[in-house]
Parts: sequence; structure tokens; C-alpha cells
Amino acid sequence: MTIASRSDTPAMDLLLDRIEKLRKSISHHQYRYYVVDDPEISDAEFDSLFRELQSLEEQHPEFRDLNSPTVRVGGAVAERFAKVQHQVPVLSLANAFGEDDLHRWRERLLRLLPEEEQPRLAYVVEPKFDGLTVVLQYDDGRFTLGATRGDGETGENITPNLRTVLQLPLQIPVTEANGRSGIQPPRRLILRGEVYVEESDFLSFNHEQAEKGERTYANPRNFAAGSLRLLDSRITAERPLKLWTYQVFLEEGPEHPPLSHWDSLEHLRAYGFPVSDEPRRFDDGQWEDLIEFVGSWHELRSRLPYDLDGMVVKVDLLSQRELLGFTGKDPRWAVAFKTGGEEATTKLLDIGVKIGRTGAVTPNAVLEPVPIGGVTVQAATLHNADYIEELDIRIGDTVLVKRAGDVIPKVLRPIKDLRDGSERPWNMPANCPSCSEPLERPPVEAATYCVNNACPDQLIRKVEYFVSRGAMDIVGMGSKQAELFVNEGHVKTLADIYRLPWEEIEKIEGYGERRIQNLQLAVEESKSRGATRLLTALGIRFVGNVVAELVMAQFDSLHELMEADVETLSEIEGVGPKIAEALVSYFRLEPNRVLVHSLAGLGVSLAESTSEQEGVEQSQPFAGKTFVITGTLPTLSRAEAKARIEAWGGKVTGSVSAKTDFLLAGEKAGSKLNKAKQLGVHILAEPELLRAANLGK
Ligand code: IVH
Repeated sequence: MTIASRSDTPAMDLLLDRIEKLRKSISHHQYRYYVVDDPEISDAEFDSLFRELQSLEEQHPEFRDLNSPTVRVGGAVAERFAKVQHQVPVLSLANAFGEDDLHRWRERLLRLLPEEEQPRLAYVVEPKFDGLTVVLQYDDGRFTLGATRGDGETGENITPNLRTVLQLPLQIPVTEANGRSGIQPPRRLILRGEVYVEESDFLSFNHEQAEKGERTYANPRNFAAGSLRLLDSRITAERPLKLWTYQVFLEEGPEHPPLSHWDSLEHLRAYGFPVSDEPRRFDDGQWEDLIEFVGSWHELRSRLPYDLDGMVVKVDLLSQRELLGFTGKDPRWAVAFKTGGEEATTKLLDIGVKIGRTGAVTPNAVLEPVPIGGVTVQAATLHNADYIEELDIRIGDTVLVKRAGDVIPKVLRPIKDLRDGSERPWNMPANCPSCSEPLERPPVEAATYCVNNACPDQLIRKVEYFVSRGAMDIVGMGSKQAELFVNEGHVKTLADIYRLPWEEIEKIEGYGERRIQNLQLAVEESKSRGATRLLTALGIRFVGNVVAELVMAQFDSLHELMEADVETLSEIEGVGPKIAEALVSYFRLEPNRVLVHSLAGLGVSLAESTSEQEGVEQSQPFAGKTFVITGTLPTLSRAEAKARIEAWGGKVTGSVSAKTDFLLAGEKAGSKLNKAKQLGVHILAEPELLRAANLGK
């Protein structure tokens, strides 16, 4: 028991339990990362656990503990190298995950620095190199000691290995360093650097190793760390290790010791150390430029041949650093900026199920909201029942969630060592949560189905699909409207989309005259999409855009297709018996035949349309114009606005530049609006856009 006293309420006990579990887990993963060089979890996952602990400890100072991994500098000493007591503690860095954290960091500096110091406040921003930290000591210019960070107090003596790193000066000043002469070596110099490996060196090393059937490494960082900690330095010498130095701990004459970090980097360069050219210095008055520079680190990263882990922002003046001091293990005068990774851990609050268009039932995770890569995630897919069972995912688990691009986030796995016993396994419900009919699971499939054709949720998904862009493309209709119209009883079959009671809908909040007009127009327009689009929109199994096109190339209308048999259909190039079977069994069912006839009766064209050509002849008021959309528009969603602009001949791009012709701006428009104003780009509101389009027609 590391905590002084147990709390007196059950809720506090739970909290304390959580804190202790996190501490254990974090310590374990630090050991894997720092000592064994073989991490079991991703950096993002680790950071996420670490942040949770940090925030719990901040909210509950009564549970603080000197042995917490948030207080101690991470890592422990491996047994196989001689231990070295660091002369100056090797501290760690606090993290900033986003601009807001950086602003807060600066505010704290301004609070802590005496007023007369503030005009001199300046920063140096430099890459955060992703390798293994080393501490180097030079006495009278000779390299005397090289050590790992270890736990920050005690490291490992890896001097012989470091001597093999060709960029490391064994003697300063290096005579050939820029041809400088007259520089006296410092009596004592202790500095910090990062040993790393370039991406391409790493890849070719791994490739050779794999060919020889020998050990490969997971990433450049592990490769660098592993190579530096080999007991036989002759092997280390064969590894393509490189060095950046970036921080002076101690410098004693005879040259004047530097007064600023910027100058100390200059000294290091003069002494012959490898110092990156990327660092930049900013006065406090240039804070906004600094933010922009820091924010561009991804570009920097893609330009450099080695990996970065973020950026480090440091107070430049050493005297101000003294004034600012430390908190726990972190200096107040520096901060590491990272963008939250694409993965994060959070709590799985519940598992719900979603009924798809075909009746397939997908389990979905209900998550405690968590920011991932700048977006708050609170739902994720769990694929199917087998996935949940195989990974043993339970309700109440802390789970690792991944979000990549715009795809639906997914639960990768549970973190079992954080369980407290209250987690509950999940089972697929026996009945459909939408229509209460029993669910079925075909013996050979992973998916479970609701086989009731009248199931409301299925209908919502069917409508959603029918109106979507690749299908009937009814602009202004989407998931929200599908759900609304089905739930209100206005849509009972797909044909009802063409029988919507507009006078009823007008009574619904948010459906004003203009919006109804737009919707009516879009519904009308969709009638002439033609047979291929309509066939796609019906959502028959295996029949997407491509198959629909192949099939409709052989028939003049959907009427004809409805009467075709399996043999005829299977003869079509690209249509196998499986698809043919699906088509025939769809059109064999009476309700489906009725649907197609009703659609025809309502004016929906069953023949291939000529509207594609008509579309080109129709005037395109925005031909050749580039648009950017920002903010919330009054009636159109962004996707709808984009679809319209494109239909009118325009192009929609993501960011405002000199090439942008129009910015379509809605409410809460942010930086794009400012940029457009600066560049003199025309700014349009939604009504103006619609008017302009109609004028042009
Ligand atoms: S300054 C007391 N600057 O990042 C502050 N650290 O989270 C000393 N790192 O393993 C650190 N690049 O070795 C600093 N330009 C840089 C850095 C840097 C990489 C490493 C550092 C440590 C980690 C801290």
C-alpha cells in the first residue's frame, strides 16, 4: 500500500483503485520502453494513460504519491552496465497536446516572471528528436563519460558504445570544425543529446537482417536504443547511429559561458557538436508566429530524413530559467508539443447494436468522449459478435480506440490489466431492438440479421441509401430526414419518398418554406436519374453502382430486367450466378415488384436517362470556379452544398488560397473567413449562393 490513508467513501475507494492500477500499468510500460527497449503499447496509448493519471492526481491532491510515475522520471537502471550517478538530474518535459496547452504554458510564465523580466522573454523552438537520450561529459575538452538517462538520477555508463558514434566529438574543439581556431575547450561541459537512426538506414538494416534470418527492430527508435545498449561495442560500431545535441547542462570557462540557450547552441556548434539547423528563436511579441511554426511540425517531419516526436519550446534566457525552476520532474521553462496520436484509451460505457440496410446487426461501442487527433470520439464500431468475443471486450473496460482519417473509429482491444472486476461480458441480443422480431445468424456467416422486412431501422437505412449521392442523389435528404420521416410515419416504403405530405412536414421545426422548396425540387429532380441509379438505390445485395451499370447496359428498362431469368443474367460479363440469383430473388418477391411499379406510377423513370447529357447542356453557372465552405449553413449540410456547387460546375476545396473564388460562409466561420477577407476572396452566404445559381441558369 503506497497511499497514506484509504478514503472514507466507496466512490473515493474506486478512484484510488483506479489511480493505483494506472500507476502500476504505467510503471510496467515505462520499464518495457526504457529498460527492455521493447514496448508493448503505442506511445499514444501510453500518453493517454499517463494523462488520465496526471489529471486524476491534479483533481485529487490528497492521493499524490512520491512514487507515482508522474513524479519520478521514467525508466529504471538495467543491470548489465555500470551505473553512473548524474551530476545534474536529467529531467523530463511536460507535454502540451494542442495550442491551448501552449497558451496556458505561456500564461504561467507571464504570471511567474517578475514584470521587469517580461520584455526580455523569448523562446527557442526546436524539433523533439525521437531517439535515445544521452548525457555527455567533457573534461578539458576530452570526452570522459557518456550515459543513458536511466531514472534521471542514475544512468548506465555506455561510454565505449558512444565513442563509436561518428558524430560525437571525442575532443573539443574539433580542429576541423568549420576551420575555427582560437576557441578554448571548456574546463567542464555536460550536455544532453539524442542518438537516433535515419529512416532509410533503419529500413535497409532491417532488410539485410531479415534476409540473414536475424533479429529486426520495430522502429528506428528501438533500433537506436538497442544498438547503443549492446554489450559489445564493436557491434554498435557497425550500426548507423547518429547524434543531435540540444541542451547544455553545465559549461565552465574559460570562454564566457553563454547567457541564453540560443547562444549555448552556437557554442556547441563551435565546439564541433552536431546541432540541428531547424531551431528558431522568437520574442514573446512573436508568439503567434511561434504557434504557427510549432503547428507546422508535421511538414518539418515529412521533410527530414529522421523521425520527430513533436517540438520543444524553451525559454531562451538562462537567468529566466533559474527564476522559473521546476515542478516535480519537469522544468517550467520548457514544454514538449505533440499532437495527440490517432489512438487513445477511454472507457467502454455500453455496447449498442445498429441495424443496417440489409438487416445486418452491427455492435457499436458507446464511449466516454475522448479527443483523438483533434476530434471528440464517443462511438466506435465493434464489427460483429465474434470480434467482441475473440478479443474478450467487456462493458466497463478501458479500451484502445483508433481513428484514421474520416473512417468510423474502431475499438482495437481492451486493456485487461485495468479491470476491477465490475466489467460485464456482452451478448448479442436475441431480438431486434427496433422491431422486436427474433434475430437470426446464418450458420456460415459472422453477421447476425434482422430478417423482418418491415423493421423500422432497416427502413431508415434503406431510405438513407436510396437518397444518397451514388444512388438517387436527393440533395437535402440524409440520415436525419430518413429517420424523421420514417419515425413520423410519412415513409413506410421507399415509394413514399415521392409521396411526402409537404403540408405536414412544413409544421416540423426547422422546415421552413425555403427548405421545403429545396427538398421538393430535389425529390422532383431525382425522378429522372434513370434505371442504373434506381437499380443501385434499391439496395439489392451485391448490386452496387458498377454491377448496376453492367446489368442496365443489357436492358432498356427496369421493367425488362424484372422479367429476366438467372441464365440470361449470368451471361452478362461481370455478373456471376451469385449476383444473378440475388437479382432474380429480389424481383420475385411481390412487395418489391409493387415498389417498382409504384415508383413508375409516381413518375420515377425506369428507363436509362439522358439527363447526364442534358446536365452538360444545362448551364453551369459556377463552371471553373473554386469554392471553400466554412461554418454551419442555415439549411444545407456541407456535403449538400458541395454536391450542389459541383452540379453547377464549381469545384470545392478544403483551404482558402489566392486561387479561391468564393468562400461560402455560415455561422461560426473561423480562421478560413479571416483568411478569405485578407486575400479579398468573395464571401457568400447560402441564400446568395442559391440566388446566384438560379440567375446563372
Ligand atoms: S530538452 C530539461 N530538447 O525528449 C529539458 N529534449 O520528453 C531537457 N528530446 O527524452 C529536454 N529532443 O531527451 C529537449 N530538442 C530537444 C529534445 C528533447 C528530444 C527528448 C529528451 C527526453 C524527452 C523529453
